[in-house]
Amino acid sequence: MTNVSRRRLLASGGAAAAAGATLPLWTWAPSASDAGTGKGLDPEYVWDVLADPVIERLYGEGTDKVAEVNEILRGWTTNDQPLPEGLPGYLADFIEEARALPAWADQGKLKLAGTFNEERYGFFLALLYTLGSGLISCAIKREAWSVYYSYGGSDMRDRIAKTTVLGYDVMDAQGWTATGRLMVDSVKTRMVHAAVRHLLPQSPHWPHVGAGQEIPISQADILVTFHSLGTWVMKKFTEWDIAPSKELADAFLHAWNVDLHLLGVQDEYLPKDWAAAYAQYDQVMGPATGATREGAELGQALLDSVIGEGNPLLRHELESLGRYVIGDAYADMIDFDKDPVLAQVWAGAVPLLVRSYQGTVPNIPIISNLLPEAVHTFIKIYFSPGDPAPITLPLSNRPE
Ligand code: HEM
Repeated sequence: MTNVSRRRLLASGGAAAAAGATLPLWTWAPSASDAGTGKGLDPEYVWDVLADPVIERLYGEGTDKVAEVNEILRGWTTNDQPLPEGLPGYLADFIEEARALPAWADQGKLKLAGTFNEERYGFFLALLYTLGSGLISCAIKREAWSVYYSYGGSDMRDRIAKTTVLGYDVMDAQGWTATGRLMVDSVKTRMVHAAVRHLLPQSPHWPHVGAGQEIPISQADILVTFHSLGTWVMKKFTEWDIAPSKELADAFLHAWNVDLHLLGVQDEYLPKDWAAAYAQYDQVMGPATGATREGAELGQALLDSVIGEGNPLLRHELESLGRYVIGDAYADMIDFDKDPVLAQVWAGAVPLLVRSYQGTVPNIPIISNLLPEAVHTFIKIYFSPGDPAPITLPLSNRPE
C-alpha cells in the first residue's frame, strides 16, 4: 500500500473515488505543519507506508506466526526495554525505527504537558475525554464501523475506552519516561491499525460500510480521532473559560503531535500551533461525523458496561449530561435522550462547577453535588477497566 494521489484515485474510478466526491477538497497546507513542508497529498488517501507492508508480510506468514509475535511482544512494555529476541528481523527493524522519538520532540514540553492531569485540569480532562470524546467517537462514522466490525467490536467498551485512555496518557509525564509505556503502547497501536487495514477489507460487512473507503484508517481518519480528543477538549476548555496558559496549551499540542508521530502520522500533517489545529479540525470533522446504527449501538454499549444494564434513571441522567457536554448535533447522531428539564439543570450546574474549580465562586458543596457522584464513578470505572489487557494484534475480524 503506498501513498496514492487524489487525482490518480479519482481517475481510477471505483469506491474510493466515490468517497472522494463527497469530501471537500483538501486545502490544509504542509506549511501549517510541524514539518513546515511536505507533498501536500490529501491524507484521505495516505495510509502508513512503513507499517503496512511490514504487517502485511507478517500476516502472510499465517495466523500462528501472528499469535507467536503477540506472545513475544507481551513482555515488551516499557519505553527503555530492549526488544525481546525471536521476532522476525523485518518486524524488529520496523519497531526499532518506529519506537524512536522524533528529533523535534521536546522533553521540557512533554514534562509540562504532564502537569495537565493534575488537579486543576485533571477532573475536566477526564470528564471531557469520557463523556465527551468517548461519545463523539461513536458519531465518527468510520471509527464506529471499523471498531464495530473488527475483533475488538465484540467488547466495545474496552475498545473505545482504550483509545481514550491512550489519549489521556499522552498528558501523563510518567508515560514518556524510561519506565513509562506510552512509546511502546503507541507503536503497538500503530501495528494494530496496520493489522486492521489488512483484516477489515476481508470482512463481508466492510463493502457495505466505510463510506466507500476500501482501506480503513487513513491518515485523515487518525487526524479526525485526534481532533475529537485533543482539539475538541481544548476548544471546550476555551468555551468553558478554563483555557490553560499559552505555554501549557502549546505543550499539550506538542505531546499530541509526538504521539501522532509514533502512531504513524506523517509530520507534514501535524499542526504547528493551535490555529493550524483548529483549521484542520474545521476541514476534517464535519464530513467524518454522522449517524450510524453501529455508532448508536456503541454509545449504548459504552453506557451498559460502565453503569450496567438496566438502571434507567442513571442512564437517562448520564445521557442528558453527555448531550449537554457534546452538544445536540453529536448527541442526535448517537440517539441520546433529550430531556429539556435536565438540560436546564446541566446548563446551570456545569458552569457553576467550573467556576468553583477556578475559585471565582466558593466551592459550595451543593454545587459540587449537582454533578452527582455517579459522574465521578463513571469516570473512575471508564479509566480502570480492571487489569488492562495488553495491546495485541487481532487474529481475525469480529466473530460473527
Ligand atoms: C485499536 C488508539 C485512531 C480504529 C486501537 C488501540 C488503541 C487505539 C490504544 C489498541 C486497543 C487494543 O487492541 O488493545 C487510537 C488512537 C487513535 C486511533 C489514540 C488516534 C489518535 C483510530 C482510527 C480508527 C481506529 C481513526 C478507525 C477509523 C481502531 C480499531 C482497532 C484500534 C478498529 C482494533 C480493534 C481490534 O482489536 O479489533 N486504537 N486509535 N483507531 N483502533 Fe485505534
